[in-house]
Amino acid sequence: MSDCTYDLLQLVADLRQITGEESDESRIVRRVAPLVRKFAETSRLVTETHDRHDESQGFTLHLLHEEPDHSNAVFLFAWLPGRGTPAHNHKTWGVVVGIEGEERETWWRRIDDGMRPGYAQLDRVSERRLTPGGISSFLSDDIHTVWNDTDSVSWSLHVYGRHINHTGRSEFDPVAKTEKAYVLNVE
Ligand SMILES: [Fe+2]
Repeated sequence: MSDCTYDLLQLVADLRQITGEESDESRIVRRVAPLVRKFAETSRLVTETHDRHDESQGFTLHLLHEEPDHSNAVFLFAWLPGRGTPAHNHKTWGVVVGIEGEERETWWRRIDDGMRPGYAQLDRVSERRLTPGGISSFLSDDIHTVWNDTDSVSWSLHVYGRHINHTGRSEFDPVAKTEKAYVLNVE
């Protein structure tokens, strides 16, 4: 790597500084997004240590960093062909940068008032494709579905304000109109 390398230690140092200076999620993701892309573009993130895939889940989370309080969580995601997530929120801010392959993201809007436990009504809003170098960012209550429509494993780098198994977030079934806790397997 050349002197333009920007490594995980530098990214984490910048995350600590930015989240120490800002409390507004929109301002945080605006400042964090270009740094996540710089880290993704100047680092060799996908290596042979990531060969094993989580077939039951359909995608694999490799945790690269989190603080002792679970903040500033950095993951490498591997998306298996023809697999993906249910609709879900994050209950923290997040920035995703495409590394290899392609991911289809479907964005939803919640239209019920959230007052009925286990019930949620979602409206589909838009769809986009994340490709290498592309950035997707979201705030705590944004809801999306992620899917790999391709024939190969797709890879992306994800940075969250907090480890997503420690935010109390939800998955949704837009057809059955249900909401339940969403917790993932992490390598
Ligand atoms: Fe997500």
